[in-house]
Amino acid sequence: MFKSGVDQRKLETLIEINAQINSDYSDARGLLQTILESATRLSGGEASSLLLVRPENNKLYFEIALGAKGAEVEKYSLNLGEGIAGWVAQNNRSLIVNNVDEDERYFGDIGKQVGYETHSIMAVPMRIHDRCVGVIEILNKKDGKPFEEDDRQWLEIFATQAALAIQNAQSFQRVSREVVLLQDQMVEQQGYHHFVCESPVMKDRVAIVERLAPTDSSVLILGESGVGKELFAEQIHLRSTRRDRPFLRVNCAALPGGLLESELFGHVKGAFTDAQSDRRGRFELADGGTIFLDEIGELPLALQAKMLRVLQHQAFERVGSSETIKVDVRIIAATNKDIDQAVADGTFRRDLYYRLNVLPLYVPPLRERAEDIPELAAHFLRRVSRETKKPISGFSSEAMDVLLSYTWPGNVRELENAVERAVVVSRTSEIQGDDLGLHVGGPLKEERYLGKTLKDSVNVFKKHFIRHTLEQNGWNQTTTAKVLGIQRTYLSRLIKELDISR
Ligand SMILES: Nc1ncnc2c1ncn2[C@@H]1O[C@H](COP(=O)(O)OP(=O)(O)OP(=O)(O)O)[C@@H](O)[C@H]1O
Ligand SMILES: [Mg+2]
Repeated sequence: MFKSGVDQRKLETLIEINAQINSDYSDARGLLQTILESATRLSGGEASSLLLVRPENNKLYFEIALGAKGAEVEKYSLNLGEGIAGWVAQNNRSLIVNNVDEDERYFGDIGKQVGYETHSIMAVPMRIHDRCVGVIEILNKKDGKPFEEDDRQWLEIFATQAALAIQNAQSFQRVSREVVLLQDQMVEQQGYHHFVCESPVMKDRVAIVERLAPTDSSVLILGESGVGKELFAEQIHLRSTRRDRPFLRVNCAALPGGLLESELFGHVKGAFTDAQSDRRGRFELADGGTIFLDEIGELPLALQAKMLRVLQHQAFERVGSSETIKVDVRIIAATNKDIDQAVADGTFRRDLYYRLNVLPLYVPPLRERAEDIPELAAHFLRRVSRETKKPISGFSSEAMDVLLSYTWPGNVRELENAVERAVVVSRTSEIQGDDLGLHVGGPLKEERYLGKTLKDSVNVFKKHFIRHTLEQNGWNQTTTAKVLGIQRTYLSRLIKELDISR
């Protein structure tokens, strides 16, 4: 088959590459680079490129280019049929051109632009299931020698290896995506949330969580509303040795004192009028696991003493009983209120606060960690689009700009709601800026003010501000005027003057 018998060096390189292809599916680019380097060295070329066909526009892109001008070449692309590589891709056939000046298929533009002179080219297709997915080309055989049939056969073998690496990487990506989806579904089926964490600030918090999770100390999670405090509580539980035991949530603001006490600690038959049988409370049900006390700042004073005893001795009595029950429960509490102030005001016991606050964890607002926004938005989009069976692929770049420049007073919960609403109103395969229904503020940031006089800018601002306030108040002029602090008659004059309409 090979003119000069089997070349030992080439064979060894191939075996090495083969081993790599079968060991690491995640670094396809690194592998392609190795394949191209070996192929270039072994065929005696001066420079080389590996081009890939992008199916969405049928163009060939320089994925990797080696040699003196490689880095510059990587910016370019070719149409199918354009140049030697384009011809190879279009015809799905190898080609050797030992004098490019005599071949009209040669396209010298890129070489000219980067200042590289080409004399000879050997190019072969990379195929997956017989379809050409890219091209490997080697330029200028050293010492002015021509490329030969033997070179071509070897290069085809390298191209087959490269195609295999690409195919593996594609399958790997597809499978990884499916694994993420399945993991999401599993976590959700168990009643937990998929936890997104991309920003350095959040990664810092997670590092703290990892350190405090294995301890049994109570944790107090602080932060604005909607930042994800409950999700942090889940993460602490899931990263602790209690992860296979229950995680129970109690919102201390949701029930009035008496009911809350029985919910937390249980009651015995006859303890109060409705108590027709014994009932175990959340602390008993959470035995061995974790209890999450949300809005702890709302815990009535009368229950605070009982809670303190649980924290100190893991002991309590059911309502209406004198029998002491012992449990092993880790307590995680959260609040978005200024609990220091509550302590100062005497509505929250200082001793309980100290006991809870052994390990405080502050969750920063979303506006301080914009790096999380794209991933959070993509996650909500995946979920909502699955639930509503509306296949939406992503966000337009303008929609992403809106997401990134909005200040998110309602934090992650507001982002979640905005994505849900956008999916409902969306009429395209991508979410558009308008679908989000967000008002991106910061007057000085907005283009519509640029190059205008002060008076004009003020009018532009007035118009948008009034329109926004009208919208917020269902276009009721009386309420809107009140909110704006102006007379109703003045408001209707402004509406006319500024040409404000629905
Ligand atoms: N890191 C995150 N990854 C994925 N989703 C998140 C994340 N943080 C928050 N969310 C989403 O935002 C919603 C609000 O989060 P969560 O209920 O934990 O906020 P909170 O801080 O407890 O708010 P509140 O103080 O109002 O109770 C969650 O239901 C979840 O869907
Ligand atoms: Mg909460």
